[in-house]
Amino acid sequence: LIAARSAASDPPAAAPGAAGAGAATVERFRLAMPVPPVLAPVSTAGGVDRYAMTMRTATAEILPGLRTEVLTYNGQFPGPTVRARSGRPVVIRQHNALTMPTSVHLHGASVAPSSDGDPMDTVAAGTSRTYRYPNRQPHASLWYHDHAHHMESEHVYRGLSGAYLLRDRTEARLPLPAGAYDVPIAIRDAAFTEDGQFSYAMGDRNRTTMLANGKAYPYFRVAARKYRFRLLNASNMRMLRLRLGDGGPIVQIGTDGGLLARPLTATDVFLSAGERADVVIDFSRYPVGTELVLENTAPPGPADLVGQVLRFDVDRTADDPSEIPAVLRTLPPLPEPTAERSVSMNMKPPQAFMDDKVYDPARVDAHVRYGASEVWTVTNASPEFPHNFHMHLVQFRVLERNGKDPNPSETGLKDTVNLMPGETVKLQATFDAYRGSYVYHCHMLDHSAMGMMATMKIA
Ligand code: C2O
Ligand code: CU
Ligand code: CU
Repeated sequence: LIAARSAASDPPAAAPGAAGAGAATVERFRLAMPVPPVLAPVSTAGGVDRYAMTMRTATAEILPGLRTEVLTYNGQFPGPTVRARSGRPVVIRQHNALTMPTSVHLHGASVAPSSDGDPMDTVAAGTSRTYRYPNRQPHASLWYHDHAHHMESEHVYRGLSGAYLLRDRTEARLPLPAGAYDVPIAIRDAAFTEDGQFSYAMGDRNRTTMLANGKAYPYFRVAARKYRFRLLNASNMRMLRLRLGDGGPIVQIGTDGGLLARPLTATDVFLSAGERADVVIDFSRYPVGTELVLENTAPPGPADLVGQVLRFDVDRTADDPSEIPAVLRTLPPLPEPTAERSVSMNMKPPQAFMDDKVYDPARVDAHVRYGASEVWTVTNASPEFPHNFHMHLVQFRVLERNGKDPNPSETGLKDTVNLMPGETVKLQATFDAYRGSYVYHCHMLDHSAMGMMATMKIA
């Protein structure tokens, strides 16, 4: 076998003080990375795709040879993938067979408040709830996850998330890699006890084992051709700066809210928690037999300045009719803004604040006029903590980062944007889809669970 040159060829040493089995003792590249199965509808009558899911506990082989107890949608870790089409509604009946309340949020979606999965609008244990997704929005790589207030962090950590891939004609017309060559990959970290169970503590910095689609350091066999990967940072807090072990090119074609205007070739891809990147990797430049590690080079973390995530094993050749067009889409024009406001994010653990206030669901923090297009100036006022900013309901545009142009990778439609300590981002969002209350929050879920969340009311 030809091992591609790697900056991370030596596994990182154990994190000082890391608990339990820890990252250091996990055998790498033993488990195959699964592709989460696409959920089959229970009915497609009347132009609506109807699905049913059950939230329940299950066990999964995350670490080689061990069974870990997980919280799941339909027994799967991560949850099944929903594939939807713009213009065709999806209805999902969620049954909560767990012992605590849940709330299912479709992150990045334009939905009515009653189907948004608001933190306070929970599904009691033993009951069911029907969520309606009209899919009246362009293609996007969305994801669904738990949002029950104060518990979202632990619930998502223990497994309650899955991909929801919405396509439309604009996207379908393009000759991008498709079918078996279009693969969602949810990347996240975790901490384990000695016996291989998840260990969860709010704000834990010892989550040093990396999982891809629910397996620790898996391998993924690929053909020597182009693949499209829908990368999701499904971590609670960890930032990812992903690169190939040989420093080879990764072509980013999309962001949270769908395709970029033009493809962007880079050697790394940055994702804070909750963000997505749609990328194409061309394995045809590697001989069959190449093993190529996907690495995370983002701080922080004691042992993981350079960390392995998964390994691509190029094991065969294949035809490749796919192409990356030079122009992917025309982004919707930005309307003239009609209002402006500022938001600051800060924390003093164990409390976290939006505009110096802890989340109070009874309070409206931002009154937004229906139809308005607003510019929000969001500042991370924490000198030591990174945050990111996520709004429900809308896909926004990043106008400025620290008074300059945004990073090229954030020039598409976004619903989550990263803010390092002291950073300021200006974004523009248009509120013309639904009236009602929605939250905005830090998507480092331990922070939102500590109260870094607020309510906007569109009326
Ligand atoms: Cu993915 Cu309110 O969050
Ligand atoms: Cu969301
Ligand atoms: Cu935060």
